Amino acid sequence: MLLATTVAAVREAVDRARERGLTVGLVPTMGYLHDGHLALVKRARAECGFVVVSIFVNPAQFGPQEDLEDYPRDLEGDLAACERAGADLVFSPPVDEVYPPGFSTYVEVQGLSSVLCGVSRPAHFRGVTTVVSKLFNIVGPDRAYFGQKDYQQAVVLRRMAADLDFRLDIVPVPTVRHEDGLAMSSRNAYLDPDERRAATVLYRALRLAAERIRAGQRDGVALRTELEAFLRTEPKARADYVAVVDPETLRPLEKLSGAILVALAVYIGRTRLIDNALIEVPG
Ligand code: PAJ
Repeated sequence: MLLATTVAAVREAVDRARERGLTVGLVPTMGYLHDGHLALVKRARAECGFVVVSIFVNPAQFGPQEDLEDYPRDLEGDLAACERAGADLVFSPPVDEVYPPGFSTYVEVQGLSSVLCGVSRPAHFRGVTTVVSKLFNIVGPDRAYFGQKDYQQAVVLRRMAADLDFRLDIVPVPTVRHEDGLAMSSRNAYLDPDERRAATVLYRALRLAAERIRAGQRDGVALRTELEAFLRTEPKARADYVAVVDPETLRPLEKLSGAILVALAVYIGRTRLIDNALIEVPG
């Protein structure tokens, strides 16, 4: 496995892979890798001849009051995990390799970036789309892998790739969970033991949503209200949002039918966690 810290070194390695006729897969991450990230790497390994993992804590997607400084990092552990999962190249650049002095171009997907997580994190998706479009241009992958845990992110990036004619497939990968249902996340590292127990409330709320739909609930506003009430039963939890939306447009749904997305952002203590479930509503 190769480690590159510059754009030039990535391009050289990818050019060599291309000369060998290999297809290229990209897995963008911010590191502190867990089994959710590694599911993306393994999927890329199964589908591509040359697998690139990027590890970059992207300052542009953190708000001024957010956890950029505290974001967990473990490059050594990440490199070992990437190697075990079958990566060929890890790109771990310093900040000024990605954002050199004078950097002033941003990519923004309007509309989809300003709902759900975009309400409390107004510049977040602009940071994501900017860095991911740079990674697409640096690596030039045939396929790029994104987790459904960050459902809105995948929707925004699919829109960006279509609108800007990026020649690649965006591959969604199902959410990997702990045994008790909590979605794996680098931010789970912030939780103390009591908070870790309370954090299962997100998954329990998603299960409740599926149950209520099975029982005949077809009113999106009523379902949202029920989920908000359920989240209030956990004293350590404070909902940022509960949304029942169309999985493509991310717009709120009143009458539920076909595929719907239930998406949550919940503070557990000071840690903001997200999760979602795609649910098929019968009839
Ligand atoms: P990060 O949070 O490190 O996540 C990297 C990728 O792993 C994302 O596609 C995310 O959806 C996926 N992922 C995280 N937890 C997962 C889980 N439990 N199951 C399945 N997939 C999971 O998302 C980002 O980084 C950044 O915004 C990035 C796209 C790298 C741009 O900076």
